[in-house]
Amino acid sequence: MSEAPHGAPIKTPGQLIAAVIAGFAVPIVIIILLANYVNKSTRTGAGTDGMSDAVVAQRIAPLAQVNLRDANAPRVYKSGEQVYQAVCSACHATGNAGAPKFGNAGDWAPRIAQGFDALWHTALTGKNAMPARGGTSPDDYSDYEIGRAVAYMADHGGAQFADPPAPAASGAAGQGAAAGAASEASASAAVSAASAQAAAAIAALSSAPQANAGAAPSADAAQAGKALYQQICQACHAAGVLNAPKFGDKDAWAPRLKDPMDVVYNYALHGKGNMPPKGGSTASDADVKAAVDYMVGAAK
Ligand code: HEC
Ligand code: HEC
Repeated sequence: MSEAPHGAPIKTPGQLIAAVIAGFAVPIVIIILLANYVNKSTRTGAGTDGMSDAVVAQRIAPLAQVNLRDANAPRVYKSGEQVYQAVCSACHATGNAGAPKFGNAGDWAPRIAQGFDALWHTALTGKNAMPARGGTSPDDYSDYEIGRAVAYMADHGGAQFADPPAPAASGAAGQGAAAGAASEASASAAVSAASAQAAAAIAALSSAPQANAGAAPSADAAQAGKALYQQICQACHAAGVLNAPKFGDKDAWAPRLKDPMDVVYNYALHGKGNMPPKGGSTASDADVKAAVDYMVGAAK
């Protein structure tokens, strides 16, 4: 047994040593190559892009940033839509927390019935889960801009409110714009009422001459009230079209006159249910109030 069997590959001690070394070395080399192959991707910090320029800049950015605004620069007012998108949509787009949902007439109808001024006031002061000014400060959005957002939202919920008058612009210009929008409203009110009666009433309306927009309060308010009633309001109120409280009908008026007169004026000015703002006319606020006084006087 001193000699290896014939045909065996290892015949000398030198070959044996070489075979043993190769037996260890070859698998090790293969393992190293494989490990390298698997790991080939280049590495940044701990498997993230944490060292990229953008991320580093973000990490070392100062905690607070100051936005300088020139207080004397002429203020560019945001539109109602812009304010809505930036602030109000957070809750009103989805109806979060019971907020009246944007574009949902059912949610908005009872609120619109309060009139624009009441809604504007609520938006400025807050109500239940609705934060004052939608949670913004007066420096971010002026009362006027909040008002525009209210009009934008309410109008998409079925109202026909005009923007509130711009604070810097002259009051007369604002009035004119509001009156113009109100006359547009009379046309679309016809569609929403969607009844033959309404169509007839509106037809009667459009043939009536429109009172002068923005006219100075008439010297004789009672006269003006009666005149406006005969021109505009009686189209519905004389016969009680669309369930309008009938002229001179005490029973129809009594429950409405439980509200303070300011509220009743507000309905006449800004609409309520099938009652279009200002009866669809472009009369001045003073004349509409005078017409209300005239109608209320006849129902007492
Ligand atoms: C944090 C959520 C939130 C934000 C932001 C928000 N609202 Fe509201 N809003 C509500 C909720 C909730 C209500 C319903 C309140 C109720 O009737 O109890 C509401 C109701 C209203 C109403 C109806 C009020 C009434 O008297 O019926 C108006 C108008 C309104 N929001 C305007 C705005 C405007 C304008 C903005 C943006 C400047 C805004 N909201 C931002 C949650 C929000
Ligand atoms: C297109 C028909 C129509 C015209 C035109 C119209 N009204 Fe009305 N008015 C109504 C209806 C309908 C109601 C009842 C609304 C409701 O209660 O939902 C109403 C209600 C009212 C109320 C009571 C609001 C309340 O509940 O306290 C007053 C005040 C009023 N109208 C004033 C006027 C005046 C002033 C004019 C003319 C400038 C006028 N209306 C023109 C249809 C009309």
